Formats: sequence, C-alpha cells, structure tokens
Amino acid sequence: MANASESEIVLTANGLWKTYASQNGEPLSILENVSISLHKTSVTAIMGSSGSGKSTLLHLLGALDKPNQGTIQWDTHDISSLSSSAISRLRNQHVGFVFQFHHLLAEFNALENIALPAMISGLSKKEAEEEAYTLLTRIGLQNRSSHRPTQLSGGERQRIAVARAMINKPKILLADEPTGNLDEINSHRLLELLLELDQLHSCALLIVTHDASIANRCEVKYELREKKLIQV
Ligand SMILES: Nc1ncnc2c1ncn2[C@@H]1O[C@H](COP(=O)(O)OP(=O)(O)O)[C@@H](O)[C@H]1O
Ligand SMILES: [Mg+2]
Repeated sequence: MANASESEIVLTANGLWKTYASQNGEPLSILENVSISLHKTSVTAIMGSSGSGKSTLLHLLGALDKPNQGTIQWDTHDISSLSSSAISRLRNQHVGFVFQFHHLLAEFNALENIALPAMISGLSKKEAEEEAYTLLTRIGLQNRSSHRPTQLSGGERQRIAVARAMINKPKILLADEPTGNLDEINSHRLLELLLELDQLHSCALLIVTHDASIANRCEVKYELREKKLIQV
C-alpha cells in the first residue's frame, strides 16, 4: 500500500476543455471536461487512436498550450494564474518532456544536450556537465559523450532525450510516444530506463503510447475516446 508521501499529488488537471479553430473558422472541439491527477512515483499510460487529442492533452498538462477552460496545478501552483515567464521557470524545474522525435540540438554533443536544462536553471557549465556525465553513465552511454545527435542511433538519441528530461529532477515526466520510432528491443529498453529513473527520482511518469505492451506495464491506464478521458 502507498504511504502518505507516495500518494502526494504532483499534478492535478480539472475540467479541461480544448477547442482549435478549424479552417472554415468553426471551432473544432478536441477535449471535453478532461480531469486527471498524477501521484508521486506513479506510472500512467494514455492510449487513444491517432488524432484523438493525446498530444494536445500532454501539451496542456505541460503548459506548452492553454486550455479554453479548466485548471492545472503543478504541486500547489495553479499555472493559469502565472505569467508565461513564471511558467517557463517553473516548468524548467518541475516538468520533463520526452517526445517521439528526440528534439536534441544538432550542434551540441550528447553531454551538452543533457546539460543544457541544468545550465538554464542556473548551474555553471562545469557543474551541469558533471551532472550530465553521471546521467550518461547511468544510461550506459558514457562512451558517446562527444557524439552529435546524427552520430547516434535512434535508441541512443531517445535515451539521451530521457536523460536531458531528467537532469533537473522534475516531479513530472511527460513522454509523448517516446518509443514511437523504435524497434521492439529498443522500445523496451527505453521503457525500462523511464521506469528506473521514475523510481529513482520519485517523479510521476505519464506516457502516451500506441503500444499495448508498454501501457500494460503502467499502473494506471486511460484512453482518450470521443474527447473524453476514460480510465480503462
Ligand atoms: N494547432 C492546431 N490547430 C488546429 N487543429 C489542431 C492543432 N493541433 C492539433 N489539432 C487537431 O487536433 C486533433 C488532435 O491532435 P493531437 O492531439 O495531435 O492527436 P494525437 O496526439 O492523439 O494523435 C487532430 O484532429 C489535429 O488535427
Ligand atoms: Mg500525438
């Protein structure tokens, strides 16, 4: 049974609605009254067909986009009441992202890519790179430190993207189809890494995935269906 600290809620979304403007100007409703909460150390999957609004929801939860209605809290911070610069600062500390496409910066090597969020949050280059090297070692890629993204395999790039997402020890890790471009072996290696780091840093992990074998490893599973989030 979860103890009190494990059941601490690190993200709460209440009654989210999201509508885009379609080409003919008509509102295009994507999410209706979606609520979710994530507990510390929890592992949650969101499934749903292509176009069902999974990325839209993840972007709202990470404050990369705003809902039309509804509230989102990271810990006790109601992000709708914060300025965009306050959100950016808080996001850098609280939320890690991993995307289907690694989004590593081509002009930086593996170590520098991992170190970047720590430098943005105020560590010196030396301190940030020491932390980054510890993570590189943990993900088994210490001998790829000076490789640029184009010199790495798809699986290695995603492992580095995970390390970059974790360097500031976020309380929330949002992963949008992180294994979408990987073969089965690399998908499962990446999932093991996400689960290991989730436990190590006691964060809440939310994975969007098409892959039932990945969703089945998660404690809580949801599906986005007809604009609603349903626990399955
Ligand atoms: N910026 C946008 N403007 C208008 N429509 C969008 C925008 N982003 C996504 N959509 C539409 O919203 C729906 C859900 O998209 P998305 O969240 O990317 O789905 P999923 O990640 O589940 O495949 C799709 O029909 C998509 O075309
Ligand atoms: Mg998507």
